[in-house]
Amino acid sequence: MLLLNASGCLDALTAPDIASSFDAFVTKTVTPEPRRGNTPVRIAETDFGMLNAIGLANPGREVFLAETLPQLRALNVPLWVSVGGFAAHEYAETCARLDNVTIELNLSCPNVDEAPESAAEIVAACREATANPLYAKVSPHSWDLAETVRAIEAAGADGVSLVNTLRGVALDSHLHPTLARGAGGYSGPALKPVALAAVFAARRATELPIVGMGGVCNGRDALELIACGATHVALGTVLFADPGAPGRVREELEAEAARAGFDRPADAFGVAVDGVARLAN
Ligand SMILES: Cc1cc2nc3c(=O)[nH]c(=O)nc-3n(C[C@H](O)[C@H](O)[C@H](O)COP(=O)(O)O)c2cc1C
Repeated sequence: MLLLNASGCLDALTAPDIASSFDAFVTKTVTPEPRRGNTPVRIAETDFGMLNAIGLANPGREVFLAETLPQLRALNVPLWVSVGGFAAHEYAETCARLDNVTIELNLSCPNVDEAPESAAEIVAACREATANPLYAKVSPHSWDLAETVRAIEAAGADGVSLVNTLRGVALDSHLHPTLARGAGGYSGPALKPVALAAVFAARRATELPIVGMGGVCNGRDALELIACGATHVALGTVLFADPGAPGRVREELEAEAARAGFDRPADAFGVAVDGVARLAN
């Protein structure tokens, strides 16, 4: 099992020690052109999580390849590059320019208006463009997640990441949306049951590796994702409150696995899904 950061929730160049405490570092999503992102206010706290409408702010592919990527390589931690775009060919062009990294296709940003082509079309275009390991990050909004996952696998993905944020709105004291954009992506503790359900559904649809994320705050949360079929686990919003979360979650995960009667966390892999299959039979 790899412990990863969730894309967009950690800047490895300002926090290199935290980035190196993960088994691999996942970059913020890179788009072909530079993006300033949405107008502030772009972040809002809510009772059980946070809303963000960053809108894929990033320096763009050329600056990423020429400046950011070499600095990230110097950290000596395996790299996952999150690739975004607004058409299949845009994703594919970035994939073709990347070597010696795992690629995570962000097929699920709730904070941009442009409607991308279908997830499977994008994966197929990227598969032609790269031999690097290719993960597809899909949305929890997907109506039939199992079908989406099967289509992504058929198109050549090597793994699936889920979940991205859910769309949410927060209101200020004047009952106006706190975020300038109105809606944003909702992340943090409230997302955990959604993430568990998504990983569960995906695991029943595929044997590909799955990166589970969404609301993981402690070792028990990570163990639950593994029990639902996550191969790897990623930490997102928790990093804003607790930069020491990677070490803490690892320790808690071992202890929680033991408490649940498993020698190692990996031994709990898929037990929730198997349990349901047994009940159904
Ligand atoms: C401030 C912020 C920025 C994010 N930026 C990205 C991004 O650039 N690409 C992406 O795929 N997901 C992005 N996400 C989503 C996270 O990677 C993750 O899927 C989501 O937050 C759920 O995990 P969590 O509840 O542990 O935060 C972002 C989330 C937050 C809170």
